[in-house]
Amino acid sequence: MNTLKHLLDKNLAWAEEIKDQDPDFFHRQAKLQAPEYLWIGCSDSRVHANQIVNLDPGEIFVHRNIANVVVHTDLNCLSVMEYAVDVLKVSHIIVCGHYGCGGVIASLEEHDHDLIDHWLHHIRDVKRLHEDSLSSLSERDQIDRLCELNVIEQVKNVCKTNIVRNAWASNRELSVHGWIYSLENGILKDLNTSVSSIKDLNGMNS
Ligand code: CO
Repeated sequence: MNTLKHLLDKNLAWAEEIKDQDPDFFHRQAKLQAPEYLWIGCSDSRVHANQIVNLDPGEIFVHRNIANVVVHTDLNCLSVMEYAVDVLKVSHIIVCGHYGCGGVIASLEEHDHDLIDHWLHHIRDVKRLHEDSLSSLSERDQIDRLCELNVIEQVKNVCKTNIVRNAWASNRELSVHGWIYSLENGILKDLNTSVSSIKDLNGMNS
């Protein structure tokens, strides 16, 4: 039986290394979490929230799914958002996509992908919304642009939830940002779609 001992060994070595560098680290971690950020990202194994922004455990609350989609009927995502905003009192929600996203690419393909097609329909909706601007692009550019547009639309979906609207209605400082990550150079790009109020949201073209 493969017990994944190599991973448990890696864990022990990691914990020892942290303790050597910062003997109080795990005592502080065990007390409470007070992250300032909620990250909604893709499940892709190459796009790891903490690592990309170089933050320690405890500094970022994370929800990931295929293609960083925020759906208003997804109780998992909404529960994470509610806990982050109402209990942890994060000040920022970051929706982070990435170029070359497998979910976005699959949404553009004609053939069936079994169960996941239900999920990919949300990205196909984004494509349909922006059909005119996308149709003039080459295939590669179309994928990259749809990755960006998907982030922008998910930022809007985050902002339209009662969770975020209620936070703004009670004058909480809460901003929602849209970023995209390049697998090729490790750089994050701000898609300049930050929203900090209902007024900002109404100023975005829906
Ligand atoms: Co992806």
